[in-house]
Amino acid sequence: MKTFFEASLPRSPAPLAEVYREVAENVMPYPMGNIHPRFWSWYMGAGNFTGALADFLAAVQGSNLGGGNHAAALLDGQVVNWCKQMMGFPASASGTLASGGSMSNLIALTVARNVKAGVDVRDVGVAAIDKPLRFYGSDQVHSCHRKAMEALGLGNRALRRISTDRDLRIEIPALKRAIAEDRAGGFHPACVIATAGTVNTGAIDDLQVLPRLAAEEDLWLHVDGCIGALMAIAPKNGHRVAGIEHADSIALDPHKWLHAPFEVGCVLIRDASAHRDTFAVTPEYLESAPRGLASAAWLHEYGLQTTRGFRALKVWMALKEHGVEKFGRLIDQNIAQAAFLSRLIRNEPLLELVAPTSINIVCFRFRPQGVDGESLKALNIEIMLRLQELGTAALSDTTVHGEHCLRAAIDNHRTRREDLRLLVGETVRLGRHISGA
Ligand SMILES: Cc1ncc(COP(=O)(O)O)c(C=O)c1O
Repeated sequence: MKTFFEASLPRSPAPLAEVYREVAENVMPYPMGNIHPRFWSWYMGAGNFTGALADFLAAVQGSNLGGGNHAAALLDGQVVNWCKQMMGFPASASGTLASGGSMSNLIALTVARNVKAGVDVRDVGVAAIDKPLRFYGSDQVHSCHRKAMEALGLGNRALRRISTDRDLRIEIPALKRAIAEDRAGGFHPACVIATAGTVNTGAIDDLQVLPRLAAEEDLWLHVDGCIGALMAIAPKNGHRVAGIEHADSIALDPHKWLHAPFEVGCVLIRDASAHRDTFAVTPEYLESAPRGLASAAWLHEYGLQTTRGFRALKVWMALKEHGVEKFGRLIDQNIAQAAFLSRLIRNEPLLELVAPTSINIVCFRFRPQGVDGESLKALNIEIMLRLQELGTAALSDTTVHGEHCLRAAIDNHRTRREDLRLLVGETVRLGRHISGA
């Protein structure tokens, strides 16, 4: 198998049928597995057939969404408008589709930095900023924000991680203290990153209080809603993200809870001109024209890419086929499944929940009497690896407030309750077998 991937650059042609056979034999049977009903690792959606068809059609049509007056570009704008509607954002806001959540967050934080810099940071750079900017997120904030701070030239330390409460939500008094401390220390508090659905446990920062606090303190409020923003469309769980519509910017991820095939993320920015002013450049070879292909808005003016793929089509076609309400019900279904799994865990003496289950992420571990610390961690990692190697289920692991645990992130429209019963049964069986409990 390894030799297949080490084969050197092909110099002469081969029949397409032969090329396809190689793919069918060596690539297609060995996927990551995230379209399987018992894939709950890290955090990803489970894809959908219509999205795959759309990706094929988009590639066949071959349009470049850097801009231009053509159907694909118009449809891209329509999907951004639908995302605004899902989030309760005003029609006057702007937005763009990006490769995923990390890029969407980076775009939003770039706008926040430029708006708050106090100088024309595009022209003179971050070194000219008078008082160093400070951004705030919880100690559960996703690692992409660190990368963004580094890429923005502000540095990792400019993102202050604020402690979280027992529910893994940002502690508002601690946030207020940090802002006051920074002002007194000669820094410029610029932006709060609220998370709607943290990657570790699915915790949702207080979206009622944070918009008020941000307004009082003159901070940009960005919501990283890559996991949870789409709950806004879920009939039973939409209330959990009420308040998100007051943010200055939101990142959301259709390739998670809308199950679009990778890649597609979306960022929405309330102030459309701030968005365009952050990225627009008009080189002589990309000027608009009164008629023809170059007579519409340039979509590359809203992000870092110039060439952009037609990723909108997979979102558009799946939403048309199923309607947004079905996607909302699937979100409710995953959240109910996580509650069900948590109940099974609570009823099983050898298992314990390690964090509160807020939405669709369950953090738990196998814990026989007398096993602690590193041995407990090693035991649970072994269970996780065997579950994977046996083809039973794919979990990942993490550490929450210092406690190592297994983690099931149920962002999967194929999961059924019997899959979760099997997970619990097999975890206990393997745990007993490995530990002798
Ligand atoms: C809260 C949060 N933010 C950002 C990201 C990054 O999103 P992506 O993997 O689409 O770049 C993730 C990924 O799981 C996430 O959970």
